[in-house]
Amino acid sequence: MFYSDDIVEEVRTKNDIVEVISEHVRLQKKGGRHWGLCPFHNEKSPSFSVNGDLQVYHCFGCGAGGNVYTFVMNYENYSFPEAVKMLAERAGVQLPEADESEEGRRRESRRSRLLAVNKEAAKFFYYQLRTPHGEPGYRYLKKRELSDETMQRFGLGYAGKNGAMLVQYLRGKGFEDDLIQEAGLASHSERYGMVSQFWNRVMYPIQDINNRVIGFGGRVMGDGEPKYLNSPETPIFDKRRNLYGLNYARRARSSNIILCEGYMDVIAMHQAGFRQAVASLGTAFTPEQAALLRRYTDNVLLAYDSDGAGVKAALRGIGILREAGLTGRVINMQPYKDPDEFMKALGREAFEERISQAENSFFFEIRILESQFHMEDPEEKTKFHREIARKLCAFSEEVERDNYLQAVAEKYFIGVENLRKLVVGYAAQNGLARPVERPKSGVRPKNTAEDKAKRAQRLLLTWIADKPQLYGKIKKYISAQDFTEGVCRRVAERLFQELEQGTFNPAGIISMFEEEEEQREAAALFSANLPALDTELEKEKAFRDILLSVKKNSYEYHVSRMGTDVSALTRAIEGKKALEELAKAHISLD
Ligand code: UTP
Ligand code: MN
Repeated sequence: MFYSDDIVEEVRTKNDIVEVISEHVRLQKKGGRHWGLCPFHNEKSPSFSVNGDLQVYHCFGCGAGGNVYTFVMNYENYSFPEAVKMLAERAGVQLPEADESEEGRRRESRRSRLLAVNKEAAKFFYYQLRTPHGEPGYRYLKKRELSDETMQRFGLGYAGKNGAMLVQYLRGKGFEDDLIQEAGLASHSERYGMVSQFWNRVMYPIQDINNRVIGFGGRVMGDGEPKYLNSPETPIFDKRRNLYGLNYARRARSSNIILCEGYMDVIAMHQAGFRQAVASLGTAFTPEQAALLRRYTDNVLLAYDSDGAGVKAALRGIGILREAGLTGRVINMQPYKDPDEFMKALGREAFEERISQAENSFFFEIRILESQFHMEDPEEKTKFHREIARKLCAFSEEVERDNYLQAVAEKYFIGVENLRKLVVGYAAQNGLARPVERPKSGVRPKNTAEDKAKRAQRLLLTWIADKPQLYGKIKKYISAQDFTEGVCRRVAERLFQELEQGTFNPAGIISMFEEEEEQREAAALFSANLPALDTELEKEKAFRDILLSVKKNSYEYHVSRMGTDVSALTRAIEGKKALEELAKAHISLD
């Protein structure tokens, strides 16, 4: 399905974003914007802002953002064409017949085709589970004590023994073989033709935070290898950056998130009422996932298996969480193996209690460490104490380090002063951890030159979006070419072009980005707060500094490319001239 840019724009302008969002979120007007509780993550005070002038929204807490289409797609879990249809109806716009032609189809991106084929496959598996063919799968899930409601909620399905059925079904829906293969749903061989990858497995669709199916995990019934077969990485399935169950967890209205090892754990926890459970996707927990969790909570509980492998994974996970600025706590599952078994045996309330007793991750590490030494042997004991000292050195903040030092000394009957000496000795040899910057939310900023450049470019665009009249004054110094960062460059190109023509339309600019991440970023550009400066003079100076910084970066960027790109030479020379002029110019902000 494909709608022309014109009709997409018409529908958008006829649906005021403040009105549309107000139908779902209680908004209050404050300082030119509307504010409310973000519907995309849990929060108690409003950080979700809607800007009626620019027709964009942005959450300062979780980073969600975009225009009215992005909102409807995320809120209602609609595809783009579905959102267009819904908003057209709402505004009484007659849509032309959807363009189903070859041409229209080609223009639909590969990503949305991959999402579409996964959605269709998920439907197929889902119905299979509920037919007589699916009987073995259904029986298996019942044996694992899942209710029909839970199965439905997670969209569980079944891939039958006949590996050709799925392919036939998908072809019937108009999907090409190469797309089906790229999605990892089937493979082709000379001998057998197209056959489904998954067969005789219970299917767990893996959804992104917006409930779109991006891949599958298939569990073999009974014993068999591999136990879980997962979709391969595809342009829509990035295992490092998604978490199973996060689409539910982020709306669970819980102050913590529980990180488990397996899909089944998440589902069992969920069924018991712990909707804040998530798991990584068949691979170890990653720093990207930690950064993702940080958007939603600063309280992560680890519910990993209690066996040796689980403990090892938990130790790794703790390190990754710590790097991301999160302190994890560890839930004790003993004597059960995993949350799934625990829940079956002891149930919700017992788990609630385990949550409240969850162990601080540092003490967990030390306890595991202790079990590796023979404490009766004085030499071993000393080694243990030295290891503790080494771990203490990893705390960059002195107060925090000292608090832990005292607590651990007390717990393990070590003299505080002795332990302190060990720490000082170790630090003298190896140094303490350098303090890490910990911002309140989002990914840790790296303070590279590149990040600085990016920040300046974003700020400049924010200024111009806030005061479009500035464009006329600076256009002789700056052009879209000066923006070296992907999203910034594309926003600048379009924004400057529109300003030249006297039209200015941020929400429309957002529509041109296909990737949700890019939409978020663009919306953030139009919603950021400019530094609160008092005097006009200060503001002028701040603006000029940013302008200079962007120009300087652009000059250096083009100089560094002079060897490979002829036009870069011209740009560098022009850039240098503009930079010198700019340094002398006075730019007033009115
Ligand atoms: P587990 O073996 O603990 O899985 O592996 P589980 O979810 O508890 O499964 P059940 O209860 O036996 O059905 C933890 C996770 O590791 C990945 C899966 O993501 C699984 O959920 N895994 C495991 C694989 O990707 N492949 C495998 O062969 C096994
Ligand atoms: Mn299990």
